[in-house]
Amino acid sequence: MTDSPVSHRVDRVEPQRIRHLFDLANEHDADDLVHLELGEPDFPTPEHVVEAAVTAAHGGATDYTPNAGIDPLRRAVANRLRSHGVDADPERVVVTTGGVEALYLTLLTVTDPGDEVVVPTPAWPNPLSQTRLAGANPVEVPLSPADGFAFDADQIIDAISDRTGAVVLTSPSNPTGRVFDVSSMERVVEAAVCHGAYVIADEVYHELTYDRPQPRLAAVTDRPERVVTVDSCSKTYAMTGWRVGWLSGPEPVTAAVTKIHESTTSCVNTPAQHAAVAALTGPDAPVREMKAAFERRRDRVVARLDEIPGVSAAYPEGAFYAFVDVSDLPGSSMEVAERLLFEYDVVAAPGSAFGRAGEGHLRFSFANDLERVETGLDRFDRMVRTESHGAE
Ligand SMILES: Cc1ncc(COP(=O)(O)O)c(C=O)c1O
Repeated sequence: MTDSPVSHRVDRVEPQRIRHLFDLANEHDADDLVHLELGEPDFPTPEHVVEAAVTAAHGGATDYTPNAGIDPLRRAVANRLRSHGVDADPERVVVTTGGVEALYLTLLTVTDPGDEVVVPTPAWPNPLSQTRLAGANPVEVPLSPADGFAFDADQIIDAISDRTGAVVLTSPSNPTGRVFDVSSMERVVEAAVCHGAYVIADEVYHELTYDRPQPRLAAVTDRPERVVTVDSCSKTYAMTGWRVGWLSGPEPVTAAVTKIHESTTSCVNTPAQHAAVAALTGPDAPVREMKAAFERRRDRVVARLDEIPGVSAAYPEGAFYAFVDVSDLPGSSMEVAERLLFEYDVVAAPGSAFGRAGEGHLRFSFANDLERVETGLDRFDRMVRTESHGAE
């Protein structure tokens, strides 16, 4: 018994710093707030996908589905992964409520309380809090800003031990946009296998790379039986609100995830699963158009940041984020983000939201109209020049 009104498990989860900034932005009364904090495409879901859900619902697809998802979707996911060289099988695909549920159920499946989960950071924070909810302990491996947060296999391998239950590798990375070197990731898989751990490859930004394709980790490793691939419709098809993701991996893991899925959500929203089938099997022109727009914005963001004195960013090779070093400005990244919000009407995510290694940075999302992105960066430019000038 403790004084806390809620469980220890929940007490171990830190409040999300991005959420804190969202709340401040909601309270901030500004006529022309520029939103560069959002991690979701600003495009509508492609029409044929919406139609598929509507048709399915009208046709009576409104019941529960099997825990692991409807067969056509499991087949579509497996086919897509096979086309990327993964030895995928529909029987070893589980459809989940977004990639986020796939990550959580996998962590619950492959870790025991007290195990460690190794996460190179800066990283999207949810796997860190999910690890705590699972009763395990996150081990952050801070990547170096001096290297543009490049993947450092040696450092990650050093953090893996017999206590490790899982390693979470996310490429392309949120928040840095880096696309990690796949042969270095393979070395991490080998090290994890030596210690009996799994590697969870979070590949929700897999389709969004601009300079070179990102191989699927499960396709290139010699030990695919220890790799769980997580992906979703959210970023690729502008479907964040539909909440459809999946995992593909070894049978013991997918069987266990299917089992515990009954206890969490039973199955994913049925019309949304039909929408996901249409997304994966329908025309890919909408995806190509969105990707081309993100690439144009990426190029413009990189060029615009180059014009701002004293700030630098890791080169975003994928996803839709620029992770900008603001360590020359006074205060913590949260304080910089708050000044940018209250004095310049721009919302950006503080780097500290992405683990200790993110401190001293702001994450700007370019999942917003190019004109709005430019307005936001113009204001950020003014802030940097004003504050650096004041510091002289
Ligand atoms: C790196 C990463 N993984 C997974 C997710 C989960 O996305 P969803 O649950 O919408 O599929 C996100 C969402 O922002 C993300 O950034």
